[in-house]
Amino acid sequence: MVLALEQVGVAFGGFRALTEVSLAIPPGQVTGLIGPNGAGKTTCVNTLSGFQRPGSGRVLLDGADISALPAHRMRRAGIARTFQAGRLFGGLDVLDNLACTGVGLGQRRAEAEHAAQDLLDWMGIAALASRPAAGLPYTDERRVAIARALMGAPRFLLLDEPAAGMSEHEAADLAALIRRIAGERGIGCLLIEHNVGLVLSVCAQVVVLDGGRVIETGDRAAILASRPVREAYFGADQAEAA
Ligand SMILES: Nc1ncnc2c1ncn2[C@@H]1O[C@H](COP(=O)(O)OP(=O)(O)O)[C@@H](O)[C@H]1O
Ligand SMILES: [Mg+2]
Repeated sequence: MVLALEQVGVAFGGFRALTEVSLAIPPGQVTGLIGPNGAGKTTCVNTLSGFQRPGSGRVLLDGADISALPAHRMRRAGIARTFQAGRLFGGLDVLDNLACTGVGLGQRRAEAEHAAQDLLDWMGIAALASRPAAGLPYTDERRVAIARALMGAPRFLLLDEPAAGMSEHEAADLAALIRRIAGERGIGCLLIEHNVGLVLSVCAQVVVLDGGRVIETGDRAAILASRPVREAYFGADQAEAA
């Protein structure tokens, strides 16, 4: 059970956002995706979740080519995601944000509400159930967005900068939650995050993108030892000195 990009290329007009990108997300562990701004991280998530069609290469789920599936079919196939901006249904309370997603995935209303309540309990945010989604503090908003993505028991969860703007302490709490999602629910997570220390502390494998290309894939030690990674983050001169 693996979700993967195989030699994926994406172009916007003449601009190549991704070039021959290959990466794999195994179940039950957190894979990191890092790289400077504009490296193509969000485009990878969009491609893995059906919001962006690859111009070349393939999206594979358990070896099957799912490149042509629209986003809602990918979701039903077990690929869930969050967005950089929360995108909650602001007019609904937290429970209904989750329940609506369950209904959209084919659950009956009562079943969806039950599943939503269970998830909020599991995440320790049951107290938010009847709060309007609009106006939640952003740390709660991110958790609700993740809870909503977990409706329907997806097999893969793609998290696009879920800790952006959080303090070290808040980000560490979120990292603990992401570890639980992978460890206790067996979900294969992809974590995009600009705090490299956080990524290295959570992720078994990390993929580094720069200019739309994978410049490194490996565990914590491999990423820390990588000259291309140092060059991408600090420039060639600094990498020389380091
Ligand atoms: N819909 C789009 N149209 C044109 N260019 C885009 C579009 N989406 C992304 N890009 C460009 O592709 C590159 C990669 O973007 P993105 O995947 O958002 O990077 P990241 O998430 O790593 O910051 C950037 O240069 C961005 O401006
Ligand atoms: Mg992005």
